[in-house]
Amino acid sequence: MSAVRITQITDLHLGENEQETLGGVTTFDSFRSVLQAVDTLGRSDTLLLLTGDLASDHQPQAYRLLNRILTEKDCDAIWLPGNHDKLELMQANLINYPRRRIYHAGEWSILLLDSSKEGQPGGHFSDAELAFAEQSLKELTGRPLLVAMHHSPVKVNSTWLDRQQIDNHDRLHQMLVEQGQVKAVITGHVHQHHDSLWGTIPVYSTPSSCVQFEPHSDDFALAEHPPGYRWIDLHADGTLQTGVEFLNDFSQQCDRSCVGY
Ligand SMILES: [Fe+2]
Repeated sequence: MSAVRITQITDLHLGENEQETLGGVTTFDSFRSVLQAVDTLGRSDTLLLLTGDLASDHQPQAYRLLNRILTEKDCDAIWLPGNHDKLELMQANLINYPRRRIYHAGEWSILLLDSSKEGQPGGHFSDAELAFAEQSLKELTGRPLLVAMHHSPVKVNSTWLDRQQIDNHDRLHQMLVEQGQVKAVITGHVHQHHDSLWGTIPVYSTPSSCVQFEPHSDDFALAEHPPGYRWIDLHADGTLQTGVEFLNDFSQQCDRSCVGY
């Protein structure tokens, strides 16, 4: 059987209109350019996995804009919230893309978790989310799993971002290890390419579709890297291949004097 092909796009930070910028980059333009690059790579028919911060400040218009673009492209897409999103506004405005928590794809399943907590930038799993994860993992016994969440459960070696690491990641980790078939965890939030291990589970963090953060930084700082995304191929034998691509022809430069977002 052929692989299940996925494209992860993350931290879109769309605003209430197509002109909104983050760190000097027009986030609508950068998102459209990423979609074009995915097409150019021959992956236009892949499932889009959108891992949070789809809006810059949970604007309903941003979700409607996204709903329109995805519908026009006739994309299959699944999503989860980040700290800049509001779940109820996503559900109300992504009308052609109802929330999916578990997605079955060939031999695989994808589990989409909510690591956001109202009023804080850092990650946290509520008791209800952990209960949902526990129940879902039981139901998915024996199936190879890809687990997606916005925040990172591991450190990325930037002081300010590591303060936003999911604070109760240990509880989920134990459940994932017990399920025994979790092949990878995939995240956004850190606006950079970072691959590591969470115990024995690979964790892949992905560049934003707009601006990137400077790696190994004590404080917020933007990097010169262009918009990016990740491709993932899930093979029927339970193995996975993945890689990150950056746009090589995006004309907008970020404003590196930007001090926050
Ligand atoms: Fe975020």
